[in-house]
Amino acid sequence: MSTLTAPLYGLGAAAASNVAMFLPALVAALAYFQYEEMDPESRAVNVADDDLLEKYDFIIIGAGSAGAVVANRLSEIGSWKILLLEAGGDETEISDVPVMAAYLQLSALDWKYKSEPSGKACLAMNGGRCNWPRGKVLGGSSVLNYMLYLRGNKKDYDNWEQMGNPGWGYREVLRYFKKSEDNKNPYLAKTGYHGTGGFLTVSEAPYHTPLVAAFVEGGKQLGYQNRDINGQYQTGFMMAQGTLRRGSRCSSAKAFLRPIRLRDNLHIAMNSHVTRILIDPTTKVAFGVEFQRDDKLYRIRATKEVVVSAGSVNTPQILMLSGIGPKDELAKHGIPLIKDAKVGHNLQDHIAAGGLTFLINKTDSITLDRIYAVGPLLQYALFGGGPLTIMGGVEGYAFVNTKYANASDDFPDIEFHFVSGSTHSDKGQQLKKAHGLTDDFYNKVFGPVHDQDAWSVIPMLLRPQSKGFIKLRSKNPFDPPLIYPNYFEEDQDMRTLIEGVKIAVALSQTPAFQSYGSRLLEFPDCAHIEKFSDPYWECMIRLYSCTIYHPVGTCKMGPPSDRDAVVDPELKVYGIKGLRVIDGSIMPKMVSGNTNAPIIMIGEKGADLIKQYWRKGRRGVRRSNILSHARSKT
Ligand SMILES: Cc1cc2nc3c(=O)[nH]c(=O)nc-3n(C[C@H](O)[C@H](O)[C@H](O)COP(=O)(O)OP(=O)(O)OC[C@H]3O[C@@H](n4cnc5c(N)ncnc54)[C@H](O)[C@@H]3O)c2cc1C
Ligand SMILES: *[C@@H]1O[C@H](CO)[C@@H](O)[C@H](O)[C@H]1NC(C)=O
Ligand SMILES: *[C@@H]1O[C@H](CO)[C@@H](O)[C@H](O)[C@H]1NC(C)=O
Repeated sequence: MSTLTAPLYGLGAAAASNVAMFLPALVAALAYFQYEEMDPESRAVNVADDDLLEKYDFIIIGAGSAGAVVANRLSEIGSWKILLLEAGGDETEISDVPVMAAYLQLSALDWKYKSEPSGKACLAMNGGRCNWPRGKVLGGSSVLNYMLYLRGNKKDYDNWEQMGNPGWGYREVLRYFKKSEDNKNPYLAKTGYHGTGGFLTVSEAPYHTPLVAAFVEGGKQLGYQNRDINGQYQTGFMMAQGTLRRGSRCSSAKAFLRPIRLRDNLHIAMNSHVTRILIDPTTKVAFGVEFQRDDKLYRIRATKEVVVSAGSVNTPQILMLSGIGPKDELAKHGIPLIKDAKVGHNLQDHIAAGGLTFLINKTDSITLDRIYAVGPLLQYALFGGGPLTIMGGVEGYAFVNTKYANASDDFPDIEFHFVSGSTHSDKGQQLKKAHGLTDDFYNKVFGPVHDQDAWSVIPMLLRPQSKGFIKLRSKNPFDPPLIYPNYFEEDQDMRTLIEGVKIAVALSQTPAFQSYGSRLLEFPDCAHIEKFSDPYWECMIRLYSCTIYHPVGTCKMGPPSDRDAVVDPELKVYGIKGLRVIDGSIMPKMVSGNTNAPIIMIGEKGADLIKQYWRKGRRGVRRSNILSHARSKT
């Protein structure tokens, strides 16, 4: 008992004045009350150096949202030997706690990337750079994410199919969304749009503040329905569902790797940083992977395929380091060219208006003092409940139409993330740093309201037209790549997002939110502009631009006729044998929603494509693809 009570006393009876004091108490309480009970399956096994084989049938690079799924599904075939390589280590007690999502950013679990400055966005951030967190841990970005479970719009997938990607239409991919899913909401589970019994647990947070009820009610007062946004229609408001299991984060590693830890045909090697894929320059066959683990360099052969699942930033980096990429870019770094391809292009990300804060008169929001306290700690450690289960502070989401969208199309152009707090709710301890805000900006905007209750909506542009790219900084595989998101390169993106902000402000004026006395917090740096005019909103957006962390598209999937395509509709890299990309980078066009569930779907479908290929041989695969294409057209 002493290990538990000592830190709790240190914390004081009421609340921690800072989170650094709270963490040891939390970890101690979890260790004391839970052991491994929260996860009967227990942690994945990290293969010892000496047990690594000389060759495997498949080598998968990256154990993120997609890679963990691929490793699980391929190792279902007992005769296949699989190696899963991951640069990071395992998840921690802290990464399990939903409300602490933002605390993982800039930690050892994060690659800590930053974008290059553009002068058009992220102007309130240090150096004009946007922070670009990416998970460097078993489970990848599904360990850092806010856990929100969303699938995008049906039309997204039907568009992919129309772009020349047979088998990727909504009807086909719905099957894979359902295959992964174990939806704990019995009402939703029986609608036909959700699955039960899959590896990925999906549920509401067991705890919510009264503010989320106001959010859904306010939505109704604006004329929107409260409905399952992942069901028949996307337009509407909803209390958030997320990848949560018994009140804790259900990362793709927890979902897909822990339950199969005893499969002896799957080796998981953590702390293994891939430096390049080994490709024979003459035959163009990918025959292995080179990686560094504890200062030792390994070269291991893949007899069937290498699968790259390193995410939309690192997958293009690894391909370029291996000789696959834009000819000039490779020449610039002295990398011998194996295949000229548009790797790193077509980068798309979801940009949003940050800091849109509404102050309120009731004490219903989540604040440092109310969250990081003994009561919530015990509720979480003992019962998997209480405010620590709120997913990064986000309690609701909505899909709404600006004047640029056709409301009868059910193809909304803005998504709202509803937060029952705001940037200052943690008194400047973490969110400010996670968003990279300058002290000056933070103090000016949030300093005067430090102690006040607030809620916020983060309106996000669902289908940006601006595109960016990823480039190599150098040929050193340990150097972070260069990230150019090009936010607001196309003016229409700004125009649409401004309309999104106006809908959020209208929401604050509904009776549901006026009963809280909701009022907008203004940005002093925009005070010189006519209040609440379009240029005023634009000023706010350019200062506090917020990525919602969804970079995709950097190894575009497309038919052979598409000169920008890097992989074919079976996710095989054009011009190289034995090499596929299976992760967010294959999206030809960004989906209209958060990307974790869609990328898990890509993992499911990608693994099936591999199985079909090796079971039936090339001809069989072609035939089955034509059949499924024909089916989805009827
Ligand atoms: C802060 C944050 C919040 C988010 N919130 C949400 C949300 O609420 N809902 C949602 O749907 N989506 C959310 N997302 C997005 C979503 O989590 C990602 O789109 C998704 O996880 C990406 O999956 P992936 O498989 O493409 O890449 P990742 O999951 O990033 O996996 C890539 C893996 O490859 C590894 N790797 C990279 N390079 C190498 C190398 N050289 N050698 C070995 N291994 C390597 C990485 O360490 C990582 O584990 C969020 C993301 C972030 C960062
Ligand atoms: C809006 O969408 C509906 C349904 O798809 C369609 O019938 C209508 O023509 C569209 N209106 C405009 C102005 O495009
Ligand atoms: C909320 O508080 C503000 C500032 O103190 C005050 O002006 C306003 O009248 C209050 N509104 C309600 C609904 O209580």
